[in-house]
Amino acid sequence: MSRIAYVDGSYRPHREAAVHIEDRGYQFADGVYEVVAVRNGQLIDEALHLARLRRSLAELRIDGALADGPLKVVFREMIRRNGVVNGIVYLQITRGAAPRDHAFPKAARPVVVVTSRRSRPPDPRLGENGISVITIPDIRWQRCDIKSIALVANVLGKQRAREAGAYEAWQVDEVGRVTEGTSTNAWIVTGDNEVITRAADSAILNGVTRLALIEIIRRAGYGFAERPFTVAEAKYSREAFLTSTTADLLPVVSIDGKPVADGTPGPLSQILRAAYLAHAAERA
Ligand code: PDD
Repeated sequence: MSRIAYVDGSYRPHREAAVHIEDRGYQFADGVYEVVAVRNGQLIDEALHLARLRRSLAELRIDGALADGPLKVVFREMIRRNGVVNGIVYLQITRGAAPRDHAFPKAARPVVVVTSRRSRPPDPRLGENGISVITIPDIRWQRCDIKSIALVANVLGKQRAREAGAYEAWQVDEVGRVTEGTSTNAWIVTGDNEVITRAADSAILNGVTRLALIEIIRRAGYGFAERPFTVAEAKYSREAFLTSTTADLLPVVSIDGKPVADGTPGPLSQILRAAYLAHAAERA
């Protein structure tokens, strides 16, 4: 089955799909995106992704993109045409193509691209054995709450993690507190078994997985607080883990080479991982 992409109103062979060289996404990273998981042919937490998309578009003042109804049709069509049972849908909306000028163009209209591909869920061994993270300074802009396609700082951070043999890099603000990973949200569990993650301020992306997990934690009645935590607190925490659409929930067993607790996935992390996977399976 050959891959199909949706580009600006039409379905095209993936190999030929292209946008204009003066698309503002290409020239200015002037656009937003979403990554939605597909499990068993179903889109996981689609409504939360669409709500965040609308917020990102509004913050960047990109008007006139496809509404939720037609977008949902395109998502389903892309899953069907690409034969995706388990994988992802990727959506990108830019301000459109126009002669290069920093200020908003008068005539441009948003360009919507949707792709979908099969992928396996993360290797279950990562869930069973846990993963390691390094910490790096957060050099990103001050609106990380917007799911902007301007990801070069995240790219550099992830590459540093890769080169250090780690799964992820946790970014750290100017006062030593963890903001988030380069493509994941960061969590710890304190000695009192309280689950902690940074509040959804403008220093982090409010992850859909984060929101779903907070709901799970609240319903189960575990101790929970949204507050920043320092690198030192994370290193000496009882447990640590990260979340995202593509990683689900993965226990963090080492930070900058220092084992977290005894260096194995913590019990609460494992319970929450199982609960999150059940939540995704329920929707699929
Ligand atoms: N990344 N923080 C950042 C900076 C992210 O890029 C992501 C998602 C998250 C987690 O958000 P969610 O739970 O909604 O996936 C947090 C996606 C998966 C990506 O860029 O591929």
